[in-house]
Amino acid sequence: MHTFLFFIVLLIFLTTSTIVGSTNEQPPLMSPAPPHKGGHHGHRRRNTAKFFGYIRKNQTAYLHNQTELANEFVYAHNWVRNEYKLPALTWDESLASIARKYLMERYEDCKLVHSNESYGENMFWGKKLHWTPCDAVYYWYMEKNYYDFKTLKCEPPPKFCEHFTQIVWRDSTHVGCALQHCHLPESGMLIACEYDPPGNYINENPLLHST
Ligand SMILES: *[C@@H]1O[C@H](CO)[C@@H](O)[C@H](O)[C@H]1NC(C)=O
Ligand SMILES: *[C@@H]1O[C@H](CO)[C@@H](O)[C@H](O)[C@H]1NC(C)=O
Ligand SMILES: *[C@@H]1O[C@H](CO)[C@@H](O)[C@H](O)[C@H]1NC(C)=O
Repeated sequence: MHTFLFFIVLLIFLTTSTIVGSTNEQPPLMSPAPPHKGGHHGHRRRNTAKFFGYIRKNQTAYLHNQTELANEFVYAHNWVRNEYKLPALTWDESLASIARKYLMERYEDCKLVHSNESYGENMFWGKKLHWTPCDAVYYWYMEKNYYDFKTLKCEPPPKFCEHFTQIVWRDSTHVGCALQHCHLPESGMLIACEYDPPGNYINENPLLHST
């Protein structure tokens, strides 16, 4: 009986996250204002590494160095978790490898579609190729503006907060992520993070231990 209920809840979570993934995982379009265009004030791209206080060891090569990528992902996640006094997540190389393998499956189509893994999963798609681990975590974190911890609701529709609630899910202990530029540069790039144990069980407060 217990196991069965667990399965149902997990199924609901996976279904929800699939719908979310295909509709709302694009970062806001924030390109720098084109120079010499009077009267137009574009949005400047936010320096999310600075926001988190993260200092990259190697500004040019960090995307190609798995250790530095991992450090940045885990740092940004734990910055957010620390805001809520939650225990830090630990990097898990096997989760990262699942994320990398899954993004390879999306290498040609670059589609923001969730995998069928039984972990929690956050995804991010960007049209440009400049998005970083800090960027993805930052935009997921910003969903907090729509989440009410008292009612456990995300409002107003059609806002989604499941990326944020997964990051601050107390019972998740491990994370592993991947970042990939897709085959055609114009199709963009993807980021995926896998969380274990998965979060986002309906009607549960992310910040509390499940009972
Ligand atoms: C940064 O990475 C590049 C490419 O891997 C390398 O050539 C360069 O020496 C690195 N710089 C530092 C300061 O480690
Ligand atoms: C990757 O980054 C780590 C941590 O900064 C560094 O120790 C290592 O030498 C780098 N590896 C390569 C191949 O540059
Ligand atoms: C997940 O499983 C469903 C049902 O078997 C399948 O239709 C879908 O393509 C799978 N998704 C991925 C990303 O593999």
